[in-house]
Amino acid sequence: MKYAKIIGTGSSVPETVLSNSDLEKMVETSDEWITSRTGIKERRIADDSTAASDIAYEAAEKALRAAGLSAQQLDVIIVGTVTPDFVFPSTACIIQSRLGAKNAYAFDLMAGCSGFLYSLHVAEGIIKSGGVKKILVIGVDLLSKVTNFEDRSTCILFGDGAGAVILSASDKPGILSSILSSDGNNWGLLYVPAGGSRTPIGEEVLKNKEQYIKMQGNDVFKVAVKSMESATVEAIAKADVSAEDIDLFVPHQANYRIVEAVRRRLDFPQEKVFMNLDKYGNTSAASVPLALDEAIHKGRVREGNIVLFAAFGTGFTWGASVVKL
Ligand code: UT7
Repeated sequence: MKYAKIIGTGSSVPETVLSNSDLEKMVETSDEWITSRTGIKERRIADDSTAASDIAYEAAEKALRAAGLSAQQLDVIIVGTVTPDFVFPSTACIIQSRLGAKNAYAFDLMAGCSGFLYSLHVAEGIIKSGGVKKILVIGVDLLSKVTNFEDRSTCILFGDGAGAVILSASDKPGILSSILSSDGNNWGLLYVPAGGSRTPIGEEVLKNKEQYIKMQGNDVFKVAVKSMESATVEAIAKADVSAEDIDLFVPHQANYRIVEAVRRRLDFPQEKVFMNLDKYGNTSAASVPLALDEAIHKGRVREGNIVLFAAFGTGFTWGASVVKL
């Protein structure tokens, strides 16, 4: 088996909706500002008792069902997340236990909003190295748990969600190319200062609200456009297809202005770009698989179509993949 192919997808979001008008009551902002600067109208927020593994488990179950597999048939579980249930063990191990995927080995991968694309690439490599046939790849984040809802520059952007795919060894082409990059020099432009080994949570941290996301949005914006553009151009060339061969572009749903800038630079028609950030905001590692699952359910893509993924996130990390469904 020469290839790694997506054979099933699933997704899940929490029920609670936080709309722009809800946010208007919490911080000095307006629906008009949020909509015109980001394209986001509402996002989903997990309740206090819900952790990443809870919604990731639901997405995983749906992906298994779509692929017609049982959890026991999984060889590996990879979870891209920056909001794990705990510092340890991995969220992947918790999901393994809930699924009863006793024949799999499981681990988390941290690459911010690029977590799903990184995980997909690692999964492809594992399959191509031989022996492994079925991998559950999940992107999940509950950024609401690390968002300061008094900070209008960040709280309007993020939402919670999970997306999952089953990647299978196949004789037919699946993942055609992946381009991954990172540049750690600017890590301080988007990070959570406390909660890790550098600054454990303590009274001082809570007083200064250092357990929450800190972001220089404007600087992140500029790098995101440039990086996503170069990665998509490279991924298309590496896949040996032309831009016209792409049936659907499924970008990281960070901000419609970022996606629109990338689309214009690539000279892509608007109808070939899938967006759902108006409903979910930026769901970090969940963003691409959540959008892919919705695109499939809406009939925007089907088996045999070629899709282009692109993502950008903390680190900085970024990447793009061309995938035949
Ligand atoms: O996955 C990667 C994760 N990160 C991102 O994707 C973030 C990328 N960055 C962005 O999406 C944009 O930079 C933002 C949407 C975060 C901000 O948009 P912007 O056009 O870059 O605005 P800005 O930060 O330059 O702020 C413009 C003004 C400022 O006021 P002054 O200083 O010009 O008076 C802000 O204080 O808008 C103000 N502002 C707001 N006003 C109303 C910032 N947030 C808000 C808000 N409501 N929520």
